[in-house]
Amino acid sequence: MKKYVGFIGWRGMVGSVLMQRMIEENNFHDMHPVFFSTSHVGSEVQIVPNTRTNILQDAYDFDHLKSMDIIVTCQGADYTNCVYYKLRNIGWSGYWIDAASLLRMHQDSIIVLDPLNIDMIHLSIQKGIKTFIGSNCTVSLMLMALGGLFAKKLISWITFSTYQSASGAGSKHIFELIQQMGCLYNSVANNFNNSSFSVLDMEKKLSEVTKSTIFPVKNFLFPLAGNILPWIDSEMENGQTKEEWKVQAETNKILCSSSVIPMDGTCVRVGTFRCHSQSFIIKLKQDLSYSNIVDIIKKHNMWVKIVPNDMHSTLNLLTPNAVTGTLNVLVGRIRKLNVGLKTISVFTVGDQLLWGAAEPLRRMLMILINL
Ligand SMILES: NC(=O)c1ccc[n+]([C@@H]2O[C@H](COP(=O)([O-])OP(=O)(O)OC[C@H]3O[C@@H](n4cnc5c(N)ncnc54)[C@H](OP(=O)(O)O)[C@@H]3O)[C@@H](O)[C@H]2O)c1
Repeated sequence: MKKYVGFIGWRGMVGSVLMQRMIEENNFHDMHPVFFSTSHVGSEVQIVPNTRTNILQDAYDFDHLKSMDIIVTCQGADYTNCVYYKLRNIGWSGYWIDAASLLRMHQDSIIVLDPLNIDMIHLSIQKGIKTFIGSNCTVSLMLMALGGLFAKKLISWITFSTYQSASGAGSKHIFELIQQMGCLYNSVANNFNNSSFSVLDMEKKLSEVTKSTIFPVKNFLFPLAGNILPWIDSEMENGQTKEEWKVQAETNKILCSSSVIPMDGTCVRVGTFRCHSQSFIIKLKQDLSYSNIVDIIKKHNMWVKIVPNDMHSTLNLLTPNAVTGTLNVLVGRIRKLNVGLKTISVFTVGDQLLWGAAEPLRRMLMILINL
């Protein structure tokens, strides 16, 4: 019998990519989907082409939610906090699949990234675990990129710098970045052919505009266009941001590490639209040859693509522009570093809305659908 699956948050950044992937893979055919909303209850929408229109259901109607076999939410942590515990308390025992971070470190939840932890996923289903959460976007992309080194237990520690796109913060932020870019352009466009307006005049004008009250910063709170923001999420007591803290915590939970692999670094928001890039310094446990390292990374999964360490390949292939909208996880700039034996650097780019968010959730849903 087909299962009833409730979708919440399907029109946000992650949710709309999830819908897109499910349509591409014809997944809706295998279930009865029910679409909920926190803002447009009663509206009619057609989500799956060539099927009947759907009337949006109330995402806070607990009786209706309780009738679902599986709930998939990409709505965010506030929604999860408001609904999840109450639903469990009133006796709902269905499967909960979530993009938000709130439940990731709970004892009775599993962080899902099946190319890395499929055995744990199957074992936990057998044990009766019902809560499956997608990991932080940089964590999933790092594990997809470096999965071979993790699987062979070759990593002593990692430091990272991330370059995270605007859409990583949600749909409102991508609109705001475009508005900021437009505002900058408009402030100087009339002077492009004005020979008395020097390049320094132009730079000064742009700088003034970003600091003025007309510059749109409602969501980011600070300018992102023409700028970078080296702080993502809330502050932890040890000086890390929550985004930085998640890397070690979630990675070791996904890998079920017997001893913690130390990881630390700096997470940075940059003015790209989609895809997260990450630079890693990795201390290996063995002094491996370059070709051995490349081979181990390449063979881990079918989505990893190695980019040769030359200028042409790197600038053509190892960028958000080249990767956006694909499931490929590009890995390049692989080098043995001069700073010490067994130390390598790696740069990787992946689509944070696909492998970093929607794709592990979609695959988890299909595992449950096919039980
Ligand atoms: N963005 C990422 O790269 C990413 C990666 C990994 C995990 N996550 C996590 O996934 C969850 C959802 O993130 P998100 O980035 O998808 O958030 P989002 O784009 O802000 O969407 C969340 C909800 O905001 C509402 N919304 C309000 N204005 C909207 C608009 N103009 N367009 C679309 N939706 C709008 C929608 O709810 P209604 O339809 O009910 O109004 C939507 O479901 C969060 O917990 C986030 O931390 C995000």
